Amino acid sequence: MHGNDLIHMVWKNFGEAYGADPAWVVRTPGRVNLIGEHTDYNGGWAMPFAIGERMIMAGGYASDRTRLRALDMRDTVEFDSRELPAPRHRHWSNYLIGVMAEFSARGFALPQLNACFAGNLPQGGGLSSSAALSNCMAMLVDKSIGSSLPKQELALISQGCEHHYAGVMCGIMDQYATLFCKQDHALLLDCRSRSYRHVPLHILPYRLVLINSMIKHDLAEGAYNQRRRECESALASLRVKHPLMQDLRDCSPEILADARARLTETEYRRVSHQVGENHRVLAAEKALRAGDLPSLGRLMHASHISLAENFEVSSPEQDFLVASAMDLKGVLGARMTGGGFGGNVICLVHQDRCEELRLSIGAGYLTRFGKTPEFHLCSPEDGASFEEAGPP
Ligand code: GLA
Repeated sequence: MHGNDLIHMVWKNFGEAYGADPAWVVRTPGRVNLIGEHTDYNGGWAMPFAIGERMIMAGGYASDRTRLRALDMRDTVEFDSRELPAPRHRHWSNYLIGVMAEFSARGFALPQLNACFAGNLPQGGGLSSSAALSNCMAMLVDKSIGSSLPKQELALISQGCEHHYAGVMCGIMDQYATLFCKQDHALLLDCRSRSYRHVPLHILPYRLVLINSMIKHDLAEGAYNQRRRECESALASLRVKHPLMQDLRDCSPEILADARARLTETEYRRVSHQVGENHRVLAAEKALRAGDLPSLGRLMHASHISLAENFEVSSPEQDFLVASAMDLKGVLGARMTGGGFGGNVICLVHQDRCEELRLSIGAGYLTRFGKTPEFHLCSPEDGASFEEAGPP
């Protein structure tokens, strides 16, 4: 379902469920990470952009109890905002109640709220559907209590929700991407200082095509948190000789080479990815600003290889999609995007070759994996916003 239809549907359902018009309607986009993967929780660099697929949430005050409704799942949770329910294993409501818990932990009294939401972002596709959802809720709660927190704080609230309610020890990239991205630009994010700059994404006659492997990365929380622990233990080893090292982002190729014997093989590979990937993000910014798309493409592909071999977060399906894309004429680069273990691949492909990409890779993937991948042209969109009040 497309943008305005989605708003219309959410609005209408809000009225049917709660007998009133919503007071606020929030829109948050998903994101594609162009390059800089698994660097955010190591104080590194990332370069995402927001996409047209989004989450829409409508909300208003309730008199007695809070009722939150997931339209796609036809499921409602109901509770008193003064007594927030505990997290439920892998339940969508964690991303909303967890946000309320973060506000509450910051000392805000929560009103009773009615809310419902729906989205056209594939869940488990590595396009940040969970940050889109928790950011929607953060913006809505912020409005309802009149706290007017800066967007930076809303991002931390959403991240806290992931950590404390969903159990994923994620970095800050997704929350920043859905809040701060700008149309026609990528967001070059310094995940340590949380400063950012917008980099124009002028790539015509090339296009960015997403290929969904149709493998959900749902079961990946354990592996994601494990990657984070491996990075932390590598950092602890490196700090023995370099006590001032704050994050793996501070590790140079020389320090890594010198430390090789003191790291486990796994730690060495994880840090190798960090060292290479941070360098690639900054090189990608230069390439974009210089209009050097072949270099951007090479960096994207090198990022994929490192994610597959050093960080070990790819999947056979994504490796196949990337390798098949790289074999085609007109494709400059391809890589998995997002947390990995399934989800999407992003390709930089000449506009005249998009159809060939779809036909050729679609057929090859079907033969190999018995599934048809989905293809989708994407362009960089604006970050989150409130929709104008009034029925669509
Ligand atoms: C997930 C996390 C992000 C980031 C990416 C990998 O999307 O939520 O914080 O770590 O994986 O780059």
